[in-house]
Amino acid sequence: MTVLVTGCAGFIGSNFIHTWFAASDEKIVNLDKLTYAGNLSNLAAFKNDPRHVFVQGDIGDAALVARLLSEHQPRAVLNFAAESHVDRSIHGPADFIHTNIVGTFHLLESVRAYWTNLGDQDKANFRFLHVSTDEVYGSLSASDAPFAETNAFEPNSPYSASKASSDHLVRAWHHTYGLPVLTTNCSNNYGPYHFPEKLIPLVIHNALAGKPLPIYGDGQQVRDWLYVQDHCRAIMRVLEAGRVGETYNIGGWNEKPNLDVVRTLCAVLDELQPRADGQSYAEQITFVKDRPGHDKRYAIDARKIERELGWKPQETFESGIAKTVRWYLDHQDWVQGVTSGSYRQWLSTQYGG
Ligand code: NAD
Ligand code: DAU
Repeated sequence: MTVLVTGCAGFIGSNFIHTWFAASDEKIVNLDKLTYAGNLSNLAAFKNDPRHVFVQGDIGDAALVARLLSEHQPRAVLNFAAESHVDRSIHGPADFIHTNIVGTFHLLESVRAYWTNLGDQDKANFRFLHVSTDEVYGSLSASDAPFAETNAFEPNSPYSASKASSDHLVRAWHHTYGLPVLTTNCSNNYGPYHFPEKLIPLVIHNALAGKPLPIYGDGQQVRDWLYVQDHCRAIMRVLEAGRVGETYNIGGWNEKPNLDVVRTLCAVLDELQPRADGQSYAEQITFVKDRPGHDKRYAIDARKIERELGWKPQETFESGIAKTVRWYLDHQDWVQGVTSGSYRQWLSTQYGG
């Protein structure tokens, strides 16, 4: 048995491969374009492992995807591949439209052609699982109920609009063509192999480098945080037992204002690797210009996946953050590797000097 998984050289995808092989020997064909966010060193443990077949390529390359499907005959396709950083989508939305919308469209068409020609049993068992985000639901006020699967889509950034579009395409390919799809909408992940353009790894990286810890606006925007391996376990559970055509919200019941998250990171670093001058890393907190159109609050109602599939997060925010900080301290070589060249250019575009 084989699954074809896209975007698995990135943050969540590479954690997915680690989580998958800890539980199963089923082969993964990993199709990834290796953009700035894709990094094969995340998967060094599986370099010579026959269970992992890496193919560099674009989800929108119909000929390549058709060849991979025909050669490997997967029982499922999981789509993690995307442009994923909101701030980059504000500076340059084109790549987000190209991969998240047009790429997903081409992938759906390639998969539909393959699925249509499967035998009855394989056709019934096949799944297309699309990995998406809570940002498609828009922004909540402090008193709103958390996002449920029945909430209307109200995306506010080029990133979330492109993800919402892809979710709609996936839904339509089920409704119109009967493709057996599953969609997951998850909150903010954190953990190992997180590229240091996102808040948590950026703060750890800057803190250790003695640089400012940039807080957009007043730092009171709220996100729900989930340890990445809990997300990966949820995806495996949805693949195994999710009802075809359904969407499942995934979250950690861990709503925190950004400033609290950054203060927690500083406190953990103060304990694990105190600053030479004895001051707290919190001294480095710096308020900077807000993100345009910054969503105020995300929160996930994860009761459906808990009730129907028996999934629950295993990590608390405190245990997950402690593990994450320790991982970054122990993997400074990985951080050095991903923060060269184009990363520096990004910092200068986003944060100026
Ligand atoms: P990431 O940016 O770390 O990784 C994306 C991966 O996709 C990279 O390896 C990249 O090379 C690859 N890729 C990009 N364009 C491609 C293309 N056209 N063809 C093939 N591969 C391509 O992203 P991530 O944080 O790991 O997110 C993975 C998925 O999960 C995305 O769909 C994202 O929207 C979703 N998601 C992320 C979070 C989060 O907190 N990071 C939360 C919920 C959902
Ligand atoms: O909610 C799920 C989404 O979470 C995923 O779909 C996205 O792929 C993922 O990038 C993430 O989006 P966010 O915009 O919430 O994550 P980010 O880490 O970029 O920012 C988290 C919060 O911290 C957000 O409110 C913006 C703020 N922030 C971010 C950065 C990079 C800062 O205050 N300063 C910063 O320097």
